[in-house]
Amino acid sequence: MDLKEKVRIIEDFPFAGISFKDITPLLSDPDVYVETINQLEKVVQNLDEKPDIIVAPESRGFFFGIPLSFKMGIGFAPARKPGKLPCEVVSQEYTLEYGTNSIEMHKDAISPGTKVLIVDDLIATGGTLLATAQLVEKMGGDIVGMIAVIELTDIGGLEKLKKYNPTALISYP
Ligand code: PRP
Ligand code: MG
Repeated sequence: MDLKEKVRIIEDFPFAGISFKDITPLLSDPDVYVETINQLEKVVQNLDEKPDIIVAPESRGFFFGIPLSFKMGIGFAPARKPGKLPCEVVSQEYTLEYGTNSIEMHKDAISPGTKVLIVDDLIATGGTLLATAQLVEKMGGDIVGMIAVIELTDIGGLEKLKKYNPTALISYP
């Protein structure tokens, strides 16, 4: 199945000049959703090491990270927007086009040496996944893979993340 055919492109959302990649059609059709998770799992099977846990950033990362963890029979730990997690957290700031944002994980979500797979829907500037990876590394996690459903190839995210060898199912320039 060609998943790229299922992604819906919305021009000029959320701003003029942005060609938004809407992944909701991948979720609403159960055959397509299952196929997406199966394709992600195949990528993971080609990694050198099997992950112990999946970490994904809120919100769209959860759409793919959680079902993949369920299918693989491994755990899941969320990286959340600030102020959402009740216990002691580790935070990482990252840069947006205008200003900064941050994400947080529970400090005890990852133990030193845990093999972590990072999952998100989209790599654009790479800022979100870099911050997620830095959080995992702060806790001593060992990142064994980084996967996304979609990568945008011409805005520098892949270069920013290259030490983690990111892989995506669908590419757009
Ligand atoms: C979007 C998308 C990725 C990120 C990609 O998340 O889901 O996580 O942007 O962009 P980047 O590579 O430039 O960081 P967003 O922050 O819009 O939040 P959401 O997942 O809650 O929709
Ligand atoms: Mg996101």
